[in-house]
Amino acid sequence: MSAPLLQAQGLSVRFGGVLAVNEVSFEVQAGEVFTLIGPNGAGKTTVFNLISRIYTPTSGSISYSGPQGPMTLTDMPAHQVAGAGIARTFQNIELFEHASVLHNLLIGCHTHRQSKPWHDLLFTPRVRQAELRAREQAEKVIEFLDLQHHRDSLVAGLPYGVRKVVELGRALCTEPRLLLLDEPSSGLNVEETDDMAFWIQDIRHELGITVLMVEHDMSLVSRVSDRVLAMNQGQVLALGTPAQVQSDPGVIEAYLGSVDDVASLRRPQASPQAPTPGLAPAQKGAQR
Ligand SMILES: Nc1ncnc2c1ncn2[C@@H]1O[C@H](COP(=O)(O)OP(=O)(O)OP(=O)(O)O)[C@@H](O)[C@H]1O
Ligand SMILES: [Mg+2]
Repeated sequence: MSAPLLQAQGLSVRFGGVLAVNEVSFEVQAGEVFTLIGPNGAGKTTVFNLISRIYTPTSGSISYSGPQGPMTLTDMPAHQVAGAGIARTFQNIELFEHASVLHNLLIGCHTHRQSKPWHDLLFTPRVRQAELRAREQAEKVIEFLDLQHHRDSLVAGLPYGVRKVVELGRALCTEPRLLLLDEPSSGLNVEETDDMAFWIQDIRHELGITVLMVEHDMSLVSRVSDRVLAMNQGQVLALGTPAQVQSDPGVIEAYLGSVDDVASLRRPQASPQAPTPGLAPAQKGAQR
């Protein structure tokens, strides 16, 4: 098997008395959708913040197979992580509310721009070229995500579900190799969640982008993920296919209390493949 795209080894981070991530190790293979699940406060977003270098681990490291070869993310500043082809969306949408959809996307497209400020001021041919390229990329993403209708609207006036897609678009504009999605379905209705599942599958199959996702909605998780890592209180509980992880007694217990309590909640006719009741919407979006 080829080297993983991302490899976390013995990651830990402590905030005062809280060990938010405790000796977590996992590998994400190129081309897969790998999902982190776990109850509120499990440490999932903290893992994303360690990868994006918002936080520095207390111990452990993250290696990444970058465009120019292997690199250790934990030794790099945050802006270089974006430059290495890692983009993310946030649990709470992070967009410029008073700019249009197109402008928000263009900001994403300019992530790799390397011109100097005086070149921008003089609008040199090189800058013009970069601007054209950014616009082309933004238009491609608008078409890919079906955002034509909202292209010139201010983000502030858009429904929540559309803003969620715009945030996804801003991340795609950076042309990432690895896309981190923190709760892509939180706050979405059933139909929008369904659309989100299609976008994630298209991102993976059509654009060839590897996806690392945090998600509470187990039906979405089962639909799009190749592998799932379950966490609780900063630690790894289980790793496997969505079905394997959902039926893991430790995972069930972390979500719902004792395994016996869960057994009494199951409907007698429930199929063994069905998502475990309660491994999901009740937990969803609690931190928004
Ligand atoms: N900057 C910080 N300072 C102090 N504590 C933090 C910080 N960031 C995270 N934590 C703590 O680390 C733990 C894990 O938080 P994290 O946000 O990673 O959870 P999560 O699994 O993403 O939960 P949720 O599903 O609710 O989003 C929590 O106890 C949280 O309060
Ligand atoms: Mg979180």
